[in-house]
Amino acid sequence: MTEPRQTQRLRADEAGIAEAARLLRAGKLVALPTETVYGLAADATDGRAVASIYAAKERPSFNPLISHLPDTAAARREGLFDAAALALAKAFWPGPLTLIVPVSPGCTVSDLARAGLASVALRVPSHPVAHAVLAAAGRPIAAPSANRSGRVSPTLPEHVLVDLDGRIDAVLEAGPTEIGLESSIVACLGGAPKLLRPGGVPRAALEAAIGRELVIADAAQGAAPISPGLLASHYAPEAAVRLEAAAPLPGEAWLGFGPEPEGHALPPLSLNLSTKGDLAEAAANLFAALRQLDEAGATTIAVAPVPMQGLGEAINNRLGRAAAPR
Ligand code: TXA
Ligand code: MG
Repeated sequence: MTEPRQTQRLRADEAGIAEAARLLRAGKLVALPTETVYGLAADATDGRAVASIYAAKERPSFNPLISHLPDTAAARREGLFDAAALALAKAFWPGPLTLIVPVSPGCTVSDLARAGLASVALRVPSHPVAHAVLAAAGRPIAAPSANRSGRVSPTLPEHVLVDLDGRIDAVLEAGPTEIGLESSIVACLGGAPKLLRPGGVPRAALEAAIGRELVIADAAQGAAPISPGLLASHYAPEAAVRLEAAAPLPGEAWLGFGPEPEGHALPPLSLNLSTKGDLAEAAANLFAALRQLDEAGATTIAVAPVPMQGLGEAINNRLGRAAAPR
């Protein structure tokens, strides 16, 4: 259970940013825009504030959270970066990349935000509003996606309010997020860097920056659950999801990608991730489309095939989770 809270809507201007930072420093919960998805932010150094994130989201267990920092220098005070981590930070920060690194001796991120692990998840987001809040807060800010547990991540402030109105202290409203998929997560814990979650930076770009292939950790394949939040069914809409569909069957809603299938009348519940087949556009539309079809009452969503190149790997990863048995 969580105490009801009055959720302030803050504008993403100077006053709103200052108020968001003030609330965070006071241990409150603020939903913030990032370039990937909206995050539910709290002071990562304050165990009580972090605990209230789990309560607001109704997250069943204490998954480790990503701590957000305004720049690489601040991130390096929290974690120990090896050569691969440094190369990745240099190439992709600020941006949609999270690095899992060993905690530094001076790490200020609370045990609860790390779920007791000896490693810490760090990210320097590029969204100018997120950056301004982080700079003003002056401490690591923990932020999982700002959705209720089990729902898809919010890419609009309206999605945050549907899930969390009355459960958090404020939402900083800055329109749709640009990328629409969560950050790529790479663990640099000594030895070969591992891709824990495909995300906003395509794998080929990550591999080019470190000059080697990434080991892929696939939680769904029963590998050691080093990233406990990566359970197969984590991103579930209410509707069933049927992947790699050539066309919708009678009664199904349709989520297309690229040109629509010929010779089929599309059902009334029908959306397209990108009629031009643009993967960046599809990523940006994915979670909003799943929410929209769900809210319109779809029982099964048939999804057109999405190619595996570039951002397609992350899109297919999220679609696979949405389709996972639960
Ligand atoms: O784009 C994003 O990454 C968004 C925005 C708000 O920054 N955040 C996000 O957070 O997606 P969340 O909590 O939904 O996902 C964080 C993932 C979880 O799967 C968690 O298990 C993993 O990061 N994680 C965090 N710390 C970890 C650690 N020390 N070792 C392994 N996995 C970790
Ligand atoms: Mg999430």
